[in-house]
Amino acid sequence: MMDMTEQSPVTEQTAAPVNATAQPVLPDAQTVTAVTHWTDRLFSFRVTRPASLRFRSGEFVMIGLMGDVNPKTGKQKPLLRAYSIASPSWDEELEFYSIKVQDGPLTSKLQHIQPGDQIILRPKPVGTLVHDALLPGKRLWFFATGTGFAPFASLLRDPQTYEDYDQVIITHTCRDVAELEYGKQLIETIRTDEMMQELLGEDGLAKLVYYPTTTREESPKMGRITTLLQDGTVFKDLGIDGISAETDRAMVCGSMGLNTDIKEILEGFGLEEGANSEPKHYVVEKAFVG
Ligand code: A2P
Repeated sequence: MMDMTEQSPVTEQTAAPVNATAQPVLPDAQTVTAVTHWTDRLFSFRVTRPASLRFRSGEFVMIGLMGDVNPKTGKQKPLLRAYSIASPSWDEELEFYSIKVQDGPLTSKLQHIQPGDQIILRPKPVGTLVHDALLPGKRLWFFATGTGFAPFASLLRDPQTYEDYDQVIITHTCRDVAELEYGKQLIETIRTDEMMQELLGEDGLAKLVYYPTTTREESPKMGRITTLLQDGTVFKDLGIDGISAETDRAMVCGSMGLNTDIKEILEGFGLEEGANSEPKHYVVEKAFVG
């Protein structure tokens, strides 16, 4: 758990002052409802959802905070970054999963948010990790590293994911075991929560396969997912013949390195990259990195 002493002094939630000139009004403000610190590098949080915001599971929005006051102009500009929405489209709140970069312009500040605080959220969802960008198939792979799990946290809670495929495999590679925890708990919730069971159905849940791996700490399955695909370990572990353009579809979200390497592997299996305008066999998006 995170050392909370660095949080002090606690942000005070004061009512809007009568003389409102002192308090700039945040554009597109949403209120933080919950924050969870998973490791000293990872946290997730939930915010209120604008009533008008509709999105497809897997999409991202721009979120952020007001930047520092420019000493020359005395003005503040919003500091925004792309964040995958980690919650499903039916959820009444929005969830995000973020890295903490100690000298990152946004996350150095964002990591200190607390319930009651406000963030900026531009309600214009976009992205390629959506069902619409894939042709129909039998098996869907989600390949994630680190915070690249976020869009899949959304898609894994979307009934369409299980309606459209016979099998849904989520692989998540992190440096150590603690970094897998957000994903691990989400999978547990999906499998055990009564509401989830009702929504996704017993047959739907039986299609879900979780394949976590670590690269720098001992765990039941070690190695980069790329290596485990190349040497056939994944297929052996899951009792699958391999990946083919006829049956397999994939969504990829992680570091630049992962995205490039998985792309090459998938192309090697004959899969082609799709887009919203031209659905094909796989889609890729870079995870937010600081
Ligand atoms: P590794 O420890 O071998 O670098 P990060 O925390 O740096 O974002 O990395 C998250 C996970 O992604 C780590 O386990 C890391 O493995 C793995 N990773 C980094 N680059 C690649 C890549 N090109 N292909 C597959 N996995 C990668």
